[in-house]
Amino acid sequence: TTTRYEAEVAPATCAGVVESNHTGYSGNGFCNGDNTIDAAAQFTVTAAAAGTATIAIRYANGATANRPADVLINGALAQEGAAFDPTGAWTAWATTTFTVSMTAGTNTIRLDPTTAAGLANIDHLDL
Ligand code: GCU
Ligand code: CA
Repeated sequence: TTTRYEAEVAPATCAGVVESNHTGYSGNGFCNGDNTIDAAAQFTVTAAAAGTATIAIRYANGATANRPADVLINGALAQEGAAFDPTGAWTAWATTTFTVSMTAGTNTIRLDPTTAAGLANIDHLDL
């Protein structure tokens, strides 16, 4: 089974503002991170068992350039500078997936932008 974690629902955090002005998001909105390096979005998820899992992150990037982000699991770098490529419009949402290693129980998944452009808009994470 897949569990959906919305970027706008606590305990998720968003270093920016939760907004709903660009349609197509799930839930009540999305995280519009500040356009600065390290303006992160973080999810807290529950893994049934220790081991590798695939996470899917839905995002929109209406800018013309990639908005790369480090993916940190429980504070440790799991993927460096993962691409969040342009989607063509802020209302055009895409999903990117990662295979990561998690511990049983509660884990944090942090998207930490590596450039001054900040994150793409982040909608949700499916695990
Ligand atoms: C626009 C857009 C925002 C987006 C921002 C950005 O302001 O409306 O949703 O977050 O660009 O470039 O990050
Ligand atoms: Ca933004």
